[in-house]
Amino acid sequence: MYLGLDLGTSSVKALLIDDTQAIVGSASAGLTVERPHPGWSEQDPESWISATRTAIGLLAKSHGAELSKLRGIGLSGHMHGATAIDEAGKPIRPCILWNDTRSYAQAALLDADPNFRQLTGNIVFPGFTAPKLKWMEAQESDNFARVSKVLLPKDYLRLWLCGEAISEMSDSSGTSWLDVGKRDWSDDLLAATGLERAQMPALVEGSERGGSLRAELAAELGLPAGIPIAGGAGDNAASACGMGTIGDGHAFASLGTSGVLFAANNRYLPNPDSAVHAFCHALPGTWHQMGVILSATDSLNWLSSVTSSKPAQMTADLGETLVAPGSVMFLPYLSGERTPHNDASIRGSFTGLGHESDRAALTRAVVEGVAFAFRDSLAALAQAGTRLERVTAIGGGSRSIYWLEVLATVLGLPVDIPESGDFGAAFGAARLGLIAAENADPFSVCTAPATQRSINPNRDHAAAFDEAYQRYRALYPAIKGALS
Ligand code: XUL
Repeated sequence: MYLGLDLGTSSVKALLIDDTQAIVGSASAGLTVERPHPGWSEQDPESWISATRTAIGLLAKSHGAELSKLRGIGLSGHMHGATAIDEAGKPIRPCILWNDTRSYAQAALLDADPNFRQLTGNIVFPGFTAPKLKWMEAQESDNFARVSKVLLPKDYLRLWLCGEAISEMSDSSGTSWLDVGKRDWSDDLLAATGLERAQMPALVEGSERGGSLRAELAAELGLPAGIPIAGGAGDNAASACGMGTIGDGHAFASLGTSGVLFAANNRYLPNPDSAVHAFCHALPGTWHQMGVILSATDSLNWLSSVTSSKPAQMTADLGETLVAPGSVMFLPYLSGERTPHNDASIRGSFTGLGHESDRAALTRAVVEGVAFAFRDSLAALAQAGTRLERVTAIGGGSRSIYWLEVLATVLGLPVDIPESGDFGAAFGAARLGLIAAENADPFSVCTAPATQRSINPNRDHAAAFDEAYQRYRALYPAIKGALS
């Protein structure tokens, strides 16, 4: 038995697999995001621990006997969060999350130092970890002076599980401190943010052992003491391990809180000018690229909250028959945007509203706007040397067939729906736990699920969606100009 723990933005999920990789059971516990100021997004790290306790506790109720036979644990989590801890291992302040853009000025400053793009292969985005520490230094100097270690969110969970500060390459790629080609911390980049290697966790590969379960905690949770905890991965690389997206050119589109167009690479292929992320993958000797949209299902969730509707009902109401885009358009920039604009100050907008614009028209515009943002990422990946032939859809939004039809038509690519099952980040984390525990071959463990159905681009509406995409492209500079 192997346990995958995925620390998501909205919940912690614990998923148990057996040695044939069959899913034995899973349980989740919810999390909240605090937004004390516009552009801020924070979580209390202690809430991750209590949610993990709850999720494992729920799983123990239904599968206690299986959990007592656990042989390995793998971790996954939302990326880039700055979890600053003191000498005693306690969080100094709430974690500043991946979609928090308060440190845009510090990010621009670091990004202007050519060393950062040169060594990390990426733009220093405001959501990445290093500029958040620069923000702390400027705005909370007492807190900054107490920083003993900076941990990524899932690695704070690991500290609780094993007592050691350890990370792995895929998540660490999103800090702006990792030399992504060399898969090691850069002392120069750390020094440029007033930090040093001793304040970073030790690094392992995602499929290697990165700590062992503490005896005291094992007794409390009903798990065997001392079992290995795999390095694990950032949530996107973990999902890729779950989906078998590890071979060169294999790709998925994740319609989650964030939207991610992810392509696996067998070599390091940076191209920061296209605002593509080029990161280490979770398996040794592999890398990946991705375009990242900050608000994908988060855009639908926002619309659902202001219209007091349920997101699943809103997309279900669209039916399954694709219709051409109408006059209403939506830019999904609720938290600013990474790919392709790297713009923390832009905000979302609806345009083309009329008296006839009802909830369905707004929902359709949100679904289309998110798909257009994916097309921007597809273009960015192409500029970075990666051409995709098809993508597999994952994430909560992929339960909407209508959304996938829009996505296939906008991207001009077939979208594959995997056979029913749970192949997300928690499953990928459990697979990494299995590999680390059994010293198994990562490439034979991380296979792809069968395709249940493929959705092809809709030829009848392709021209209309193309034309709407051109209108969408024209809106960003116009709105940007009007806002500044
Ligand atoms: C990736 C990113 C998000 C988070 C949240 O760069 O910021 O996908 O990992 O899931």
